[in-house]
Amino acid sequence: MVASHRKAILARTALVGGMVLVLAACGRTDISEYPLDALSPDGPVAQAQDDLWSIVFPIAVVIFVLVEGAILVAVFKFRDRGDGQLPKQVEGNTRLEILWTIIPAVILAGIAVPTVATIFDLAGEPDPDERIDVTVVGKQFFWQFEYPDEGFFTANEMVIPTDTPVRLHLDGDPTYERPDGSEFADPDDLVVHSFWVPRLAGKMDYVPGHDRSLTLQADEPGTYKGNCAEFCGLSHANMRINVIAKEPAEYEEWVAQMSEPAESPDGEAAARGEQIVGAEGANCVQCHAIRGHPDNQGARIGPDLTHFNAREEFAGAIFDVDDDEQLRQWIRNPPEEKPGAQMNPFGPQAISDDELDDVIEYLRTLD
Ligand code: CUA
Repeated sequence: MVASHRKAILARTALVGGMVLVLAACGRTDISEYPLDALSPDGPVAQAQDDLWSIVFPIAVVIFVLVEGAILVAVFKFRDRGDGQLPKQVEGNTRLEILWTIIPAVILAGIAVPTVATIFDLAGEPDPDERIDVTVVGKQFFWQFEYPDEGFFTANEMVIPTDTPVRLHLDGDPTYERPDGSEFADPDDLVVHSFWVPRLAGKMDYVPGHDRSLTLQADEPGTYKGNCAEFCGLSHANMRINVIAKEPAEYEEWVAQMSEPAESPDGEAAARGEQIVGAEGANCVQCHAIRGHPDNQGARIGPDLTHFNAREEFAGAIFDVDDDEQLRQWIRNPPEEKPGAQMNPFGPQAISDDELDDVIEYLRTLD
């Protein structure tokens, strides 16, 4: 009596639990609520990968249920009843062994057909005349995006035109040439990361020493969130990506804006700020490129700041660019704000409060 009651409770719990799980999977997702949902594709690359998943996943579910079911049957039906009786042994049964070799082989061969077709489909290079190219470098801890055809760099944010294939080149050799012709490589760049914007494409590892490519494409304008997907150090989780898709005409406007160098500011405070970030001041230009700044060295240790104020977020896309107080705290002590950040703290003895205000005033002119 007691045993059957316990069984009934177990069965009911399992049923309710199973229903909750199934229902939880049914909700449609809104991009703002689930920005990292890999099952809500927003472009043809992610769609092709999702289509493949839609074939493989149900097959995997059926196999899971059959195998786990068989295990449960075996565990309960053939359990030790204390009578010392062994169940019938099937070891060495040729027919069974052939059967459970052939069935998985046929299933795997069946799954291989759409899988290999999708792999070849996605490995194809989009037509160079109809795509844009972006070179990606994983830094500690932010993503650097170079638009090689236009010759400018951004960080954290990659702007792309809608309905256009974007060929990403994950550049495993972060050596770069400075404007004076000298070459430089930051040893801190030699770390494995993984580039992942789930709603646009699957992930691709960034591996120092290897060049790898990935295509992604967005159907609709919007901001698509991503994150580094390979543990790379203390701020791995703070290494975020914003892919901002714009209509092609708006994208062209953005490119024109980014292609411009920074201008020397008119305001007095901002002009002082321009000097402070220069070689005679706090020497920010030693690590950051600011095209158009008189002391620019084209340094690529930190993010390019030429159009800092045009971005939405900074520091690996974790802080709002418009937040003056956050920016102040960041410059004062970056590793405090983002663990493991490579930028040195600039205390009051390096930059006074007034000077810091001037620097922020200058950064606000970098649109
Ligand atoms: Cu970069 Cu994890």
